[in-house]
Amino acid sequence: MASTNIDHKIRYRLIPKFELLFLSVCVVVALVLSFGYIYLDVMPDYFHNYPKPKMSQAVEDILYFERFVLSEHDPLDLNFPISLENTDLHVNPKHVGSMNLCSTRTEPLHCPSNNTGRCVKISVVGLCGNWVTVLRKLPVKISCPAFEKTDIFLDHVGKVEAIEKAHVVLFSFVANYLDMNVWLKLRFYRSPGQMWVFQSEESPVYARGYMMPWFFRNETYNISNTYHTSADIPSPYGYYEPFRNENSNPVVNVTQLLKDKTNLIIWICSHCETLQWDRTKFVFDLQRVINIDTFGKCGNLSVCSGKWTTTCNNEIDKRVSAYKFSLALENSCCEDYVTEKFWHALVIGTVPIVTGPRFENYNKVAPPGSFIHVDQFNSMEHLRDYLEYLDKNDTAYLEYFKWKSLGTVREHSIREHYQNHLSNDVICSIADQYLHRQSSPNEFKMFDLYGPEWKGTCHHCGKHMWIRNYEHPLNHRRKSKNIWD
Ligand SMILES: *[C@@H]1O[C@H](CO)[C@@H](O)[C@H](O)[C@H]1NC(C)=O
Ligand SMILES: *[C@@H]1O[C@H](CO)[C@@H](O)[C@H](O)[C@H]1NC(C)=O
Ligand SMILES: *[C@@H]1O[C@H](CO)[C@@H](O)[C@H](O)[C@H]1NC(C)=O
Ligand SMILES: *[C@@H]1O[C@H](CO)[C@@H](O)[C@H](O)[C@H]1NC(C)=O
Ligand SMILES: *[C@@H]1O[C@H](CO)[C@@H](O)[C@H](O)[C@H]1NC(C)=O
Ligand SMILES: *[C@@H]1O[C@H](CO)[C@@H](O)[C@H](O)[C@H]1NC(C)=O
Repeated sequence: MASTNIDHKIRYRLIPKFELLFLSVCVVVALVLSFGYIYLDVMPDYFHNYPKPKMSQAVEDILYFERFVLSEHDPLDLNFPISLENTDLHVNPKHVGSMNLCSTRTEPLHCPSNNTGRCVKISVVGLCGNWVTVLRKLPVKISCPAFEKTDIFLDHVGKVEAIEKAHVVLFSFVANYLDMNVWLKLRFYRSPGQMWVFQSEESPVYARGYMMPWFFRNETYNISNTYHTSADIPSPYGYYEPFRNENSNPVVNVTQLLKDKTNLIIWICSHCETLQWDRTKFVFDLQRVINIDTFGKCGNLSVCSGKWTTTCNNEIDKRVSAYKFSLALENSCCEDYVTEKFWHALVIGTVPIVTGPRFENYNKVAPPGSFIHVDQFNSMEHLRDYLEYLDKNDTAYLEYFKWKSLGTVREHSIREHYQNHLSNDVICSIADQYLHRQSSPNEFKMFDLYGPEWKGTCHHCGKHMWIRNYEHPLNHRRKSKNIWD
């Protein structure tokens, strides 16, 4: 009895102290966690469960993420300055950071439960505003020739919750930045085995809306569908195809070609304040030493109002083909980022003068001897001298058209190019990858946006300093908050 009393007394005295200790520990833990949540914007779970990356890399990348995503939240209103015929491509900037992924559809489409064969449900995240109707009317059921007994349902999710029912999620045309809360919520609703697809036709410099926080780098996108040749599903802007039949080679009428070339250099551009380098300043400087006609918002001449109509396109083409050279300067300097500017110049029959990917990279994808790379020259004056030489020497100039008898260039119009992402071909390739991976998911590497396969594909805009001098410093502040200006 006595011992019980003592026990009881001891316990009686100990418990409050213990509780107090426990409580204070709780308070400290709560404070630490809320500090983590508020200051680092990291949910406690993630903070603890994810291995801390190497500090230098982590700091660099989180700074990158913050600089381009977190700190510039609302200002990055990604309205497209162009309109598609009668369709106004308006992206609502108010959706930045909200849980609604700018869609009006909220009802998820389910695979029919009585389906006898297989069913793959693919949901699109990110496609905003009128892009939905411009690219493809959704929802849609697709059958793929390669797997007859499988129905593919393509749908668009409006709410993050709706991804739960999908087998595959396409991150496509993510115009608005997905913030930390959206990422956490997307991860929460990701069902086991769900395949996430990264779809982008913009370079890493521009496709920042998709950039996930660093610590999710390994567990976000399973596969990629980009312009890059080593993407899981490559969708290049254009490509060169050598002729198979040697006898069917067309001959270019050089007399006619030279007769048409009444002007020297053309530049058509409407995105003047590029993110990686100062393309406009480059053109203005070059214009001081050689004659260049500049069209579009960045120049002082206009062809038609810049609408994507057939009449306007034809008018632009006619204009461009009257020039010996056209400046095809990419907005970013990243491997394989060779856009329609380049391919279309070749199709029209003018010699593109390029900056963007490295000379060697163009050489790999372009028709042989079809272009002039700015980085082939030691200075702007050397570039000018060479262009003047070609202007005077028809034989040397015509060498740039020799490839026309060896092969042809395939390209999409810019509109078809964007539509390609939701085309049956691409959707069937995605479904194919999914069905293939489903059986052995651990065999495959994730697609790392921060790694050498994406962010690491970008580099300096030239090996020569005179070109690098046009690159923006890292702390560069843009005048316009619209990244498409
Ligand atoms: C099965 O699904 C199809 C649509 O795929 C529908 O037309 C049909 O009525 C369904 N059958 C039953 C018994 O629910
Ligand atoms: C996609 O990646 C996630 C996260 O790594 C993984 O759990 C899932 O099984 C993968 N899905 C497929 C189809 O490979
Ligand atoms: C995550 O990525 C890093 C760098 O690519 C790699 O070393 C590591 O093994 C990956 N971890 C997992 C769990 O895939
Ligand atoms: C090439 O073009 C010129 C000038 O238009 C024309 O006179 C000539 O007949 C054409 N040659 C051929 C082979 O078509
Ligand atoms: C366009 O601007 C350039 C440079 O400012 C100038 O040299 C040129 O004459 C202008 N062209 C026209 C047609 O106004
Ligand atoms: C013109 O170009 C051709 C072919 O490149 C070259 O053989 C020739 O020497 C050049 N003529 C002059 C005057 O430079």
